[in-house]
Amino acid sequence: MKDKPAYRKLEKRLAHLRQELHRLRRSRLSDEANFRLAVEYANEAIVATREGRFVYVNPKAVQISGYSRRTLIRRPFIQFIHPDDRRKVMDRQVQRSAPGAPAEPYLLRLIDRHGRIKWLENHSVLVDWDARPAVLSFLTDVTMRQQIQDRIHTLSQQLIRAQENERQKISRYLHDNVAQDLSSLLIAGKTLFDDAPGIPDAVRQKMARLSAVLHRCINAVRDLAYDLRPPVMEQLGLVPALYQYCEEFARQSGIRADFSPAGMDNLNLETEIEINLYRLVQEALNNIRTHAGASHVSVKLIASSPNLILRIEDNGRGFDVEEQLQKSAETRRMGLGGMVERVSLLKGKLTIESRQNRGTKIFAEVPVRKRKTTG
Ligand SMILES: Nc1ncnc2c1ncn2[C@@H]1O[C@H](COP(=O)(O)OP(=O)(O)O)[C@@H](O)[C@H]1O
Ligand SMILES: [Mg+2]
Repeated sequence: MKDKPAYRKLEKRLAHLRQELHRLRRSRLSDEANFRLAVEYANEAIVATREGRFVYVNPKAVQISGYSRRTLIRRPFIQFIHPDDRRKVMDRQVQRSAPGAPAEPYLLRLIDRHGRIKWLENHSVLVDWDARPAVLSFLTDVTMRQQIQDRIHTLSQQLIRAQENERQKISRYLHDNVAQDLSSLLIAGKTLFDDAPGIPDAVRQKMARLSAVLHRCINAVRDLAYDLRPPVMEQLGLVPALYQYCEEFARQSGIRADFSPAGMDNLNLETEIEINLYRLVQEALNNIRTHAGASHVSVKLIASSPNLILRIEDNGRGFDVEEQLQKSAETRRMGLGGMVERVSLLKGKLTIESRQNRGTKIFAEVPVRKRKTTG
């Protein structure tokens, strides 16, 4: 009977283990129940997908999509995605299904039951769902935010267009009317006393001073008209205008500025492209003058069908592009933000690369649009 205490001990230990197992099972079940509860009540759409289908959708997903749970689960989930986003979603889904570092959240468009677009921000992770791997996605409805952003975008583009139209009108008026009339006045004044020998010197001197003021006035009006819209661009187009602008910039700033166009002959670009690319160079060169501390800048304009490529490079101190673009968006300054808007108005892409003490490269690529020939 020596074994008895040992046996008892063993039995006690076994009972304890059984109890422990039971407790663990219960807590696992309640963890799972809590998890399901959280998911069911979440204010985000939460879905689990496997092999191209939903294996779970929460009530919020049903609400956002407008489809019943049954319909969602029955069809391949890609059918609910906007056709232009399907590729992206499939690629991300494949990426997500492999274990590894968590993927970046991304935006996708869902078409709801009424055919409306819903913008969703998707965060997803790989999980075990009913004992098999599945992709669990948390989708936040950002449709409102997206609509507001689109609206701001459209408005700033309309603003740019309206501003350029006004500038053109004022510039033409100043040049063709105001400057012309002032010039006629100047000539009339200069010749006023030509056939009048009896005029005292004091009066002649007064007239000379008046003429000098008129002369300055004419120059000021011409400069203003020029700034508003360079006549060389109106008459000869973007390439001569950029030659002139770079030359003038170099003269005034002491920074060497080389402009080289390629393949630009006989392009006959639409005015909207010309003026916006011109403004882009203006803004970039102004920034280089005020911020870069550069000694050299190169501006290249290359026609590479069907696109037009503009490259502006300086050898200055460089800057943190992300940070400045963010600031620009917050303050709605027209500098860098304006460049982004102008390029997007032309349906193009803008890239800015900058490294500390390695200079800045601005790269814009826009589709060529030719002026419609009239008559
Ligand atoms: N070519 C450049 N070299 C160095 N820094 C630049 C350059 N372009 C822009 N920056 C930096 O980016 C900032 C934002 O530029 P921008 O939006 O044009 O506003 P602003 O010129 O009115 O400051 C500038 O203040 C400057 O710090
Ligand atoms: Mg600026």
